Amino acid sequence: MAPAPADSAPLPRDPVTVLRNLGDLATPMALRVAATFRIVDHLNAGTTRLADLAVATELPEDVLGRVLRHLVAVDVLTEMPAGTFAPTAVGALLAHGHPQSAAGWLNTEHMMGRADLAFVDLLKAMWSGHTAYRLRYGTDFWADALAANRSATFDAAMARDGKASFRAVNAAYDWSGVRHVLDVGGGNGTLLRALLRGQPHLRATLLELSGPAAAARAAFDRAGLTGRVDIVVGNFFEPFGVRADVIVLSAILHHWKDADAERILRRCSEALTPGGRVLLIERAPGRNELDAEFTRADLSTLVYLGGRERTRDEWVDVVDRAGFTVATVSRPLDRQGRRLVELQPADGASEPPPEERWRAARAGRRRRHARRRARIPT
Ligand SMILES: C[S@@+](CC[C@H](N)C(=O)[O-])C[C@H]1O[C@@H](n2cnc3c(N)ncnc32)[C@H](O)[C@@H]1O
Repeated sequence: MAPAPADSAPLPRDPVTVLRNLGDLATPMALRVAATFRIVDHLNAGTTRLADLAVATELPEDVLGRVLRHLVAVDVLTEMPAGTFAPTAVGALLAHGHPQSAAGWLNTEHMMGRADLAFVDLLKAMWSGHTAYRLRYGTDFWADALAANRSATFDAAMARDGKASFRAVNAAYDWSGVRHVLDVGGGNGTLLRALLRGQPHLRATLLELSGPAAAARAAFDRAGLTGRVDIVVGNFFEPFGVRADVIVLSAILHHWKDADAERILRRCSEALTPGGRVLLIERAPGRNELDAEFTRADLSTLVYLGGRERTRDEWVDVVDRAGFTVATVSRPLDRQGRRLVELQPADGASEPPPEERWRAARAGRRRRHARRRARIPT
């Protein structure tokens, strides 16, 4: 390969600049001002002059102008000679309707934008024994997230975050022998809708707290899936009151300390039918693969809930103490590195008798065969 021309060599990173950029709070807060006051939405709607933006946002023109000019300096906005502003390709992501919008995480009126502000209290949380979230807001994350005015933005953030992994779950597991799947803490049911559409033979139950359960019920109605799904309003620390062949825990256990994660897993164990499995959808990298995506998520769950992201070894420890073994670990389902981790009861107590396993396999073969025939044009 020809050597790269000297003038295209990367510039050496000046440690002083690198550290200043890493530690800077001005830019992260200016981005949050822009997202919360929907500056890019206003720009896209044609309100582009500073004076008009000040009127539209009801902010003093001087301070708004200073924030916008910082965003120009860091390439989030551009300022035209006529004194009008426009978003750059980066700034465009601040629009609430953009398909890759970051507004849900940066708008401080949205649940995740609000939660991230608690990072300021990480300092105190290190020694106080409380989560940074509680120190900042005087209440716990879930009580706050489920308040009527926030649960929709939280559900939307979760659904957007999980979208790629939810789609991939259909192909990442052999659902042919599964009759009934239970999604514990399944939010507004986005994962179950993807599964029910992909697996026409499946019946499903969603277990959730009352607010998300109501949102899920409405969403299943709209999707025409009501007849295939039951909704149970419940607490996953209590007995579920329902049994299933497969229990899914998607983005649940990382929010909880080991002892709580084990309690939830024990509830799952009680609710499995013979031969059943628990499927975790979580990040599960090896210890040598930890990147900033993982460590950032780990600190976020610490700040919001006192939970933790876990490496593969750490998952093995937690599930082992709850009476499970890791049967399989899928390849990453999305860019965040989530994987599907299949757990089976360690004692084999829920292993079905051989004739039941044989019947389930035969039913699965029949279904696959029928699906293949349905695809063959006549
Ligand atoms: C991070 S969200 C995950 C939602 C969904 N499974 C997903 O992957 O997007 C965690 C969910 O757990 C639910 N949850 C929290 N505490 C709960 C509890 N004690 N019992 C049942 N659900 C709970 C919340 O309502 C929320 O929808």
